[in-house]
Amino acid sequence: WEQKDAVEAAPCPHTASRAHSLDSMPGPTNWPLVGSMVELLRKGGLRRQHEALVDYHKKFGKIFRMKLGSFESVNIGAPCLLEALYRKEGRYPQRLEIKPWKAYRDLRNEAYGLLILEGKDWQRVRSAFQQKLMKPTEVVKLDGKINQVLKDMVARIGKINVNGKIEDLYFELNKWSFETICLILYGKRFGLLQEEVNEEAMNFITAVKTMMSTFGMMMVIPVKLHKGFNTKTWKDHTAAWDRIFSTAKVYIDKKLKRNSSRDPDDLIGDILHQSSLSKKELYAAITELQVGGVETTANSMLWFIFNLSRNPGAQKKLLQEIREVVSPCQDPSGEHIKRMPYLKACLKESMRLSPSVPFTSRTMDKDTELGDYTIPKGTVLMINSHALGSNEEYFDDGKQFKPERWLRGSCTINPFSHVPFGIGKRMCIGRRLAELQLQLAMCWLVRDYEIVATDNEPLDVIHSGLLVPNRELPVAFIKR
Ligand code: HEM
Repeated sequence: WEQKDAVEAAPCPHTASRAHSLDSMPGPTNWPLVGSMVELLRKGGLRRQHEALVDYHKKFGKIFRMKLGSFESVNIGAPCLLEALYRKEGRYPQRLEIKPWKAYRDLRNEAYGLLILEGKDWQRVRSAFQQKLMKPTEVVKLDGKINQVLKDMVARIGKINVNGKIEDLYFELNKWSFETICLILYGKRFGLLQEEVNEEAMNFITAVKTMMSTFGMMMVIPVKLHKGFNTKTWKDHTAAWDRIFSTAKVYIDKKLKRNSSRDPDDLIGDILHQSSLSKKELYAAITELQVGGVETTANSMLWFIFNLSRNPGAQKKLLQEIREVVSPCQDPSGEHIKRMPYLKACLKESMRLSPSVPFTSRTMDKDTELGDYTIPKGTVLMINSHALGSNEEYFDDGKQFKPERWLRGSCTINPFSHVPFGIGKRMCIGRRLAELQLQLAMCWLVRDYEIVATDNEPLDVIHSGLLVPNRELPVAFIKR
């Protein structure tokens, strides 16, 4: 959590002298068995749940309760409540369990990584990675590797665009972020940005895609049933994880052997060799870093491109900043980025307006007073960063892309109203890496191409784990 960004938060208007029980908390209709499912379906279903939740926050306020089938949650969407949660956080915060992933690990006797670990084990693995991955002076050393892949991406955009348009831009960006994270984690180029992608690379990226697309179903219909009936979903999920683990192990083992001939900028190599984690723990932790870092980064880049296409004024200012800081014969570097406040503001604004991960969760490990209520131990709390970012109460003229709002001499934005990477001890561990990747990527892109909007129609957003556009992005890349 960036304490240096913190401003004195306004007192929470919800601090009551006597906290109420959960029963008195407002919320949408709660019918027997289905809870609010019917109402949510009328509002467009799970694919539009982000919009429904914004509506509910407008209707019921900063905190409300909702039940979908048997899944009950308390939803919070106000900086003062996030701050209260942050201040009361225990030593080992917990997110909602991803049971299908745990079921696979238990089946194959593999370890858990950061996304699913809990308690002291989570803290042990987290601290092994945190030192390097959350420290800006360490992460900046990865700029060379990030640039290696970016050079190929910019060249590929030059080759594959037809009148500036790129077919399936989202998949191209996924290949870019996959290639980058693999280079950082395994020290291996898979060649996903080449014209002919080799079989191993294609199988690896397809396995991650399959694993991600099959687990959602098993979060709704219990994984126990899928496993018991050996459903296609369970079989595909298991086969996908098998492929992911077997490929990851090959390259982690190679790295572990390469002790004496390591690069000086090999953060992951340092962690692999210096931590006291077992091999099994390293396999799981590295694999989950990869899984956590691919689509999130690609998705944020997609929205970053979209927001700049619709805001040519901001793009022009950004180009100016890039040209002032980076000379034409240089590659943009981590050191350059430090002198590019407008670029950083553009990324923050893009992630506010178009967050990739609309909400994260916490399972309360003790009874906790939040605002007017006592939230009992075991309750699942949904932290809605999408609702926060689109709330006019916290962001004036909130529908507009205004990077300047992050720049004003004494920026008065409450840091708890902008949480695209989550909050507290369990916030995204790849945050620094993702930010550097996105900032460098945008430097390369804007320097070489004008990103133009090919139409100005509204773009519908749907929820499919991440927030994605419901059609091909209406943008073109015109060579400068
Ligand atoms: C957790 C977002 C990139 C690895 C999270 C969380 C969010 C998030 C919202 C939950 C935090 C919480 O519950 O408070 C994003 C976004 C990214 C991104 C928007 C890109 C723009 C990455 C990258 C990596 C990564 C590049 C890997 C290097 C993880 C891991 C966790 C996590 C391992 C679990 C951390 C823990 O529980 O200790 N991310 N992430 N993420 N992310 Fe990211």
